[in-house]
Amino acid sequence: MSQIIGTSVSRKDGIAKVTGAATYSAEYQLANLVHGYLVTATIASGEIRSIDTSKAQELPGVIAVFTHLNAPKVFKPTNNFAKSKIYEARLPLSDNQIHYAGQIIGLVVADTFERARDAASRVLVDYSTQPLVIDASLANFKEAPPHFGEEMKFSIGDVTKGMETATAKVVETYQTETELHAPMEPHAIIVDWQEGDGVTIYEHSQFVLGSQRTYAELLGVPTEKVRIISPYIGGAFGSKGFPWSHAVLCAAAAKQIQRPLKLVLSRRQMTALTGHRSETEQTIRLGATADGTITAIDHEVKSVTSPVEVFTEPCTNITPVMYKTDNLQIMQELAVMNVGVPTFMRAPGENPGMWALESAMDELAWSLKIDPVELRLKNETKIHQRKNLPFSAKHFADCLKVGSQKFAWKDRAKEPREVHRDGKLIGWGMAASTFPGLRGAASVKVRLLKDGTAHVLTAGNDIGTGAYTVAAIVAAETLQIPVEKIRVELGDSRLPDGGMAGGSMMSASMAPAVMAACQEVLKQAGVETAQEAFALLEETGGAAFEATASSAPGEESKKFAFQSWGAHFCEVAIDESIGRLRVTRWLSVMDIGQVINAKTAASQIRGGVIMGISQALMEECQFDPNIGYPVVYDLATYHYAAHADIPRIDVIFVGEPDTNFNPAGVRGVGEIGITGVSAAIANAVYHATGRRLRSLPLTPDKLL
Ligand code: MOS
Repeated sequence: MSQIIGTSVSRKDGIAKVTGAATYSAEYQLANLVHGYLVTATIASGEIRSIDTSKAQELPGVIAVFTHLNAPKVFKPTNNFAKSKIYEARLPLSDNQIHYAGQIIGLVVADTFERARDAASRVLVDYSTQPLVIDASLANFKEAPPHFGEEMKFSIGDVTKGMETATAKVVETYQTETELHAPMEPHAIIVDWQEGDGVTIYEHSQFVLGSQRTYAELLGVPTEKVRIISPYIGGAFGSKGFPWSHAVLCAAAAKQIQRPLKLVLSRRQMTALTGHRSETEQTIRLGATADGTITAIDHEVKSVTSPVEVFTEPCTNITPVMYKTDNLQIMQELAVMNVGVPTFMRAPGENPGMWALESAMDELAWSLKIDPVELRLKNETKIHQRKNLPFSAKHFADCLKVGSQKFAWKDRAKEPREVHRDGKLIGWGMAASTFPGLRGAASVKVRLLKDGTAHVLTAGNDIGTGAYTVAAIVAAETLQIPVEKIRVELGDSRLPDGGMAGGSMMSASMAPAVMAACQEVLKQAGVETAQEAFALLEETGGAAFEATASSAPGEESKKFAFQSWGAHFCEVAIDESIGRLRVTRWLSVMDIGQVINAKTAASQIRGGVIMGISQALMEECQFDPNIGYPVVYDLATYHYAAHADIPRIDVIFVGEPDTNFNPAGVRGVGEIGITGVSAAIANAVYHATGRRLRSLPLTPDKLL
């Protein structure tokens, strides 16, 4: 059989998804089901003086109304990644304090959704308000705490001296606005308690076994009594990794009322309750000698968090990784504002970080009169300057070279405002991409059946990324049977722990475990090939061979730094009379290690580029300065890209399998696509217009 890894395979779950056969969290049909609706705060800072639920309670069909005065019991979780983790450290309804607009202050349960919603609107609340902090320019910034155990302040050499020796300098500040994950599938949960403390939770989860452990701790039941069912997820982008407050409350309330309970959030509720990417303000100082050698890189970042949780948008992750310098400094500051919880959102840190650094690199290239591709090639670093380790299988230079060749970058106009087409200014821009190669432990069960099929089972998840198909391809390759003969089951906590579908690590975690389990099942059957195993089953009348195997990171991260790389090249067309910016051409060249499925890997890059174009052109969530409420609250008011905003996106993969990282050689391809996109666009805008825009999004008012 020819090799299937690296070819284009259509999604295993594609037909189920487009025909409606795929069941999402809110769609499970349970007997005796009742419905919840949240009551949320209409102030952003203060406290509840009194809350009157009598008008809600007397309505027909209303079963219960929970507030802080009768909150259902929830235990405090360890709140540590390895054990359990919730997004918002404050437990729901834990007191009468209000920290942000839209915070949960009650839950109404009724026999229908409409009755629950109606009753929720009749809960009367008397607040005392306190001054709110909603404007970052007035917030009190302090040094950010360590992020995943790493200090947010770090330096090598002396940046001040490095800047003094520079002949060209860039000292500029770049901004990004608050952004929303906006998944197509809203946040939803159904909780079904059984006799004897067992509970089944139907909830989209990027981390099924993590979610299981967390609910067990929160609800005070043994882990094995909790079952999480999450076979399909309609978009997550970091917002479905851990339980949110509404889900915790729903689970505890369902236990008290002894009925299966469903809670679906409205888009407006999601804006406050299911995370966002913090706004950032980033100051970059870059210095270089006349030949383009970088002498200093300084990256200082401000981001904001919520009173109820600490989360720093780690923009400086990328700073020691991209370009070689003897003088490097990073520093992050954090302030508390009266907003909901900021959290992981597609390439957290890397995305806004690359916006600032890759914009500044373009400014440096113009000031040196050096081609921006050349400037990057010249300053490539072979080592991770913070970990002090060599990068494994790094092909960043190939991304730049192949990209400039395929895009015909050498034909670029030498000066801004040179090219016109159909009354519009045309500009070309480029920027680099990067994302770390991450990997977790994963276990997979493989079953060979008499009918010549193989089943691959793991609790790991497909968040739209193509993991079902990746698992099938790796099994087909290892077992040397057609991919059509593989059935994959994911997203159920009764299956072996597949790790987390976050940090772009599902493929790197799962693929080696699939390989190991396929090899193990053949070994246990005492055969060399799957065909022999099938023949043996036929001969003996046995039903199946089955084996489980695990794979986990080892010592490799002590020897190498693992990082994926890329380069984006784009063209924009700008109509200055109306401030209209359109992206008209796109090429991304990526080095992600081994490509498992050329089709879905390219789709992942395209998805990232689309989200990046959207971020660059229109995404922003503003807060009302008086009441602190987000002024965008649904998919109409939160502007993001539609098909008509997106050009054809060409994707090319370069590089080699990174077998230092894992036996499958895969580094993952989820998040890298979005990194650098907004910078490439702003750099093209400069080339088109001669105007440097340093504040996202690049809305028409900034282009007039
Ligand atoms: Mo991703 S932001 O790690 O889901």
